[in-house]
Amino acid sequence: MSKKFADSGRIAPSDITPHRQYLSRRTLLAGGIGLVAAQGLAGVTRRASAQSAGALAFTHNAAFSVTEQPNTYTDITTYNNYYEFGTDKSDPSENAQNFHTRPWNVTIGGEAELTGTFNLEDILKPHPLEERVYRLRCVEAWSMVIPWIGFPLGDLLKRFKPTSKAKFVEFKTLYDPKQMPGQRARVLEWPYVEGLRMDEAMHPLALMAVGLYGKVLPNQNGAPLRLIVPWKYGFKGIKSIVSIKFTERAPRTTWAGSAANEYGFFANVNPEVDHPRWSQATERHIGANAFGPRRPTLPFNGYAAQVAGLYSGMDLRKYY
Ligand code: MTE
Repeated sequence: MSKKFADSGRIAPSDITPHRQYLSRRTLLAGGIGLVAAQGLAGVTRRASAQSAGALAFTHNAAFSVTEQPNTYTDITTYNNYYEFGTDKSDPSENAQNFHTRPWNVTIGGEAELTGTFNLEDILKPHPLEERVYRLRCVEAWSMVIPWIGFPLGDLLKRFKPTSKAKFVEFKTLYDPKQMPGQRARVLEWPYVEGLRMDEAMHPLALMAVGLYGKVLPNQNGAPLRLIVPWKYGFKGIKSIVSIKFTERAPRTTWAGSAANEYGFFANVNPEVDHPRWSQATERHIGANAFGPRRPTLPFNGYAAQVAGLYSGMDLRKYY
């Protein structure tokens, strides 16, 4: 495990707080009165730190967070899509436990001045971590609210000085059938590939996540490094990234490449464009009220004010 993760001096409130109370405590800390409360808890946090492996140091970004109660840690880490570890929702949490996320390298390639293979610690080092509570809307018409820990994707990309030819960014997941049993079957084209247009990738909402609920990402959620694009369907959030490439043309992405009529390259959450086999107008919220009323799906998953401008003039029925 990286030193940065293991030795982080500050302890996340989630480590000393049942997850249910996490949200209210965090709001307090973010609100300013938190300083005194946090100092008062210092002794407790220090004692708790021995048991809280993988705690991360971060600040909460309230401006970029939804105010809804996050799903429980159990929901978020046992109901997963990660086909490299199986296609049932419970498969990733069962099959990814021994997945090795260290040492980990990320190759940066394509249209950039700085390219090469970097170890994960060097990739992460300059980036202060923040917490952002985002709604994840899966293309399967369910959603969850997840307190991610990460840093803006754009800050990472800028470091490699993309050239003027860089119009898109392509991401790839590790290909390692020995460790990833799902890759021994042809359920999808391996490795999993995703991509963004450059302006989407540079949007401040696009996040590189390394943790959730104040701790290092569990393997089933895409450790050690995964993408989160909150205004797009969850499948854009590629997990366990080993390659980032700047390209002139739109990359062939796994889902759009294998079923172009069902999954578009853009994959913006859009209640008006149905999947050919089901409606996208509403969603089921995973968690305590999973069988409660379905919720209406919001354009761009609720982030229209921030991101709709990226697509002005585009026919979003054609570019779904
Ligand atoms: N990344 C890889 N490499 N493989 C996958 O199967 N599934 C995607 C996305 N990233 C997937 C992936 C889908 S469909 C969703 S909804 C999200 O991961 C789920 O993320 P979560 O399990 O952390 O909630």
